[in-house]
Parts: sequence; C-alpha cells; structure tokens
Amino acid sequence: MKMLAIVKSKHNDNTMKIAEAMSEAAPLTVADLKDALYYNLNEYDVIGFGSGIYFGKHDEELFEFINKYCSHFTNTFVFSTSGSKNYKKNNSALVKLLESKNKTILGSFGCRGLDKFFIFALLGGINKNHPDTDDFDAAQQFIESIVNRYNQLKN
Ligand SMILES: Cc1cc2nc3c(=O)[nH]c(=O)nc-3n(C[C@H](O)[C@H](O)[C@H](O)COP(=O)(O)O)c2cc1C
Repeated sequence: MKMLAIVKSKHNDNTMKIAEAMSEAAPLTVADLKDALYYNLNEYDVIGFGSGIYFGKHDEELFEFINKYCSHFTNTFVFSTSGSKNYKKNNSALVKLLESKNKTILGSFGCRGLDKFFIFALLGGINKNHPDTDDFDAAQQFIESIVNRYNQLKN
C-alpha cells in the first residue's frame, strides 16, 4: 500500500510536522504542495491533503490543486492544524470539495498548532507548544486508522 500526503504549511510548519509524524507510523510519503506535481499521483492508493487553517478553511492553493489535478483517484483523507479546536468545522470545506468530486474520505484529523497570527503575535502566539507529543501520537493513531479503513474497503 502506498500513501501520499500533500501539504501546505506556510505559517509555522505545524502541519508539516504532523505529516512527518504520520509518515513514521505508516507507508506515507510527504510532499510539499509546491512539489506535488513531481509525484505520479496514479501510483498512490490513498492521497491525503493537509494545511493550516487560514480564515476558516484550508489553504486556497490546496483547493485549486484538487480542482485541477485530482480527477483520477478515489481514496483520500484530510488533516489540518489550527489556532482553534473546531477541527470538524475547519476541515469541512475541503471535505465537501472532495465529496463533490466523488472521493471516498477515509478520515479527517485536526489538532492545535502554534498561532502567531495578528494580535496573537503580541503574546508570542497561542498554543505555544503545539503540535506536542500528544498531537503527534494522535496523528499516528489517525494514520493507522486510515490504513485499516483502506484495507477493510479493499477486502
Ligand atoms: C493568516 C492566518 C489566518 C488564520 N486563520 C485561522 C482561522 O481562521 N482559524 C483558526 O483556527 N486558526 C487560524 N490561523 C492559525 C493557523 O491555522 C495555525 O497557526 C496553524 O497551525 C498554521 O499551520 P501551518 O504552520 O502548517 O501553516 C490562522 C493563521 C494565519 C497566519
């Protein structure tokens, strides 16, 4: 089984750290969004999409990438890091886009990430130690659950 995570992590590398933790627990290759077209997307059984949450949703470039290049595969997952804990809501716009393209969404994950946006910069940021070891553990459990769901669907 081969999985690819396509990541846009532009604020503090929070989401990239989560993707890298996932890659230690599963056969997952991590690609920065800017390099994603160097990968042959057809080779992967599952493709995940992750970024920080910026103004209530994933990075706009992820939406554009999916609209342009993601017609041919089925199994996906979604993840994010954010200042707030509204993970389900934060992931919902990207989940909806994938659903509208008839993708199977094997799961959706979120955790807090250091947020130094705007007024929070004055405080040195909020969620200062996140993602932390508990977040990495949760991300690894999540990616293991994605592998299990994929195997269940296949059998
Ligand atoms: C421009 C900007 C807008 C943001 N908007 C939100 C938001 O609407 N909701 C939220 O929970 N966090 C928001 N955040 C916080 C980020 O989602 C959080 O810091 C995230 O972990 C950044 O991920 P990254 O380091 O992978 O880019 C925002 C951060 C920035 C810089």
